[in-house]
Amino acid sequence: MTTVARNADRISRAVADAYDNQKNRRGGKNAGYIPVLASVHPELFGVCAATVDGQIFAAGDAGYEFALESISKILTLALVIEQRGHREVLHRVGANATGRAFNSVSALEQHNDKPMSPLVNAGAIATASLVDAADAEDRWRQILQVQSDFAGRQISISDEINASEQDTNFHNRAIAWLLRDGGSIYCDPMEACDVYTRQCSTLVTTVDLAVMGATLANGGSNPLTGKRVVAHANVRYVLAAMTMEGIYTRSGDWAYSVGLPAKSGVGGGLVAVAPGQLAIAAFSPRLDEVGNSVRAQAAVAQVARTLDLGLFDVPRRGDR
Ligand code: DON
Repeated sequence: MTTVARNADRISRAVADAYDNQKNRRGGKNAGYIPVLASVHPELFGVCAATVDGQIFAAGDAGYEFALESISKILTLALVIEQRGHREVLHRVGANATGRAFNSVSALEQHNDKPMSPLVNAGAIATASLVDAADAEDRWRQILQVQSDFAGRQISISDEINASEQDTNFHNRAIAWLLRDGGSIYCDPMEACDVYTRQCSTLVTTVDLAVMGATLANGGSNPLTGKRVVAHANVRYVLAAMTMEGIYTRSGDWAYSVGLPAKSGVGGGLVAVAPGQLAIAAFSPRLDEVGNSVRAQAAVAQVARTLDLGLFDVPRRGDR
């Protein structure tokens, strides 16, 4: 265990300060293209850190349930790497930034129909299609199970969010058919799109997000339940994907300023992982132009900086 993960007072203060400092931050707006997300109260704001030894530090609306959205992509990715191995996922999906919006069609055309990253919509739909499953319900059951294992509690779908997304996700269906045309999808494209849409429509709290991240920080076993969710050796591939594309076209800016693998979702959630130490999560619905929560980015960045967690910060000689 590292010093940071043991220092409860420091973490607790960092979380409380980030909440206080960022709660008056304005800017951004709720996701508008999924009708139900537009109606979530924009002032909601939660921050939470979860350590690899199972301590939880929460502030604000950290118990409020919101849509997991794109953060589901890292969990399905972990499942598929477990089942198929990291080489197959690299070969079929990829591990590079697209440089385009998360739902880009032109990125597929530009890269000969290869999705490039499991964390953009095309790559996530392809990844869902790679789950080793007998049918749609089996595919969905396994994905929901891995979400629950990461959270350490039973996760459920919101029928309201799912219906809102299924009724409006023509763009994702087009992506699934393009993947089919290019030979980059591995089950019925509409099954993959349906299950992907369901995986985005589950409800989590900011505490759940932090525990999910702490499971990765802890080398793949859940710090609350002790259950191994991902093989230790596979965690690095999930963290690498998060570093390259987790914050979409701002992933480079995020690496530069914060220096932790992270993942956001248009529901307003964001989680960052400090390997071997802890995870920091935040939630607030207002998003910047590329789809990342404005307040969640600011709060997670503040906690990471306060606790000196950036992976690219080389310790000074005297500190080693
Ligand atoms: O497929 C979609 O567009 C949504 N269900 C999820 C997108 C998302 O969260 C991207 N996030 N920043």
